[in-house]
Amino acid sequence: MAMRNLYLIGFMGSGKSAVAKYLVNYEHMTGIEMDAEIERREKKKISAIFSENGEEYFRRKETELLREISGMHDVVVSCGGGVIKKEENIRLMKESGSVVLLSATAETVLERLKNHHDRPLLEGRMNVEAISMMMKERAPLYNSAADYSVCVDRRSVAAIGQEILRKTSQKEMKTT
Ligand code: S3P
Repeated sequence: MAMRNLYLIGFMGSGKSAVAKYLVNYEHMTGIEMDAEIERREKKKISAIFSENGEEYFRRKETELLREISGMHDVVVSCGGGVIKKEENIRLMKESGSVVLLSATAETVLERLKNHHDRPLLEGRMNVEAISMMMKERAPLYNSAADYSVCVDRRSVAAIGQEILRKTSQKEMKTT
C-alpha cells in the first residue's frame, strides 16, 4: 500500500535528522536527508556551496530535489531548516505528504549548535538573540507549512518519534 511522505521541518538544530533516522528504523521507510543529498550531488559541503555558489544557488538545488522527492512515496524526509522560505516548497510538501514541525527554543538550538561550524547562516551569529530573531522571522512560514508541531526541548529522540507516529495516523498517511 503506497503511503504518503513524511516531511520533518524546523529550525537548524531542532533534531530533524536524528528523528528521521529513528522513524526510518522503526517504520522501515526510506529516509532522505536533503542537505546530505545536495552535498553528495554537488560534491561539496553546504558551507562551501553557500560561499562559492551563494544561497540562491543552494535554494534552487533544494527545490529541484524536493520536486523529485514529492514524486516518491513512503519516504521520511529530513528537510533543511530553510525549506519553508519558498512557497513552491511548501506546496510540494503539502501535496505529497504530512508535514511535521519540530519546535525548539533558541536556547536548545544554541546548546546543540554552539560548537558546530557547518551552518553558514549562523556563522558569527551563534547567540540566543540572533537565533531568536531568525526564528521569529520564520515562525509564520513554519506554522503555515506544518500539519502539526512537536516540541523537542529536553525530550529524547524516541519520545519525539513516538509522538509523531501517534499523531500521523496510518489513515492520514495512506494515499488511497
Ligand atoms: C539552513 C539550514 C541547514 C542548511 C543550510 C540552510 C537554513 O539545514 O540547509 O545551512 O536556512 O535554516 P539544517 O536545518 O539541517 O541545519
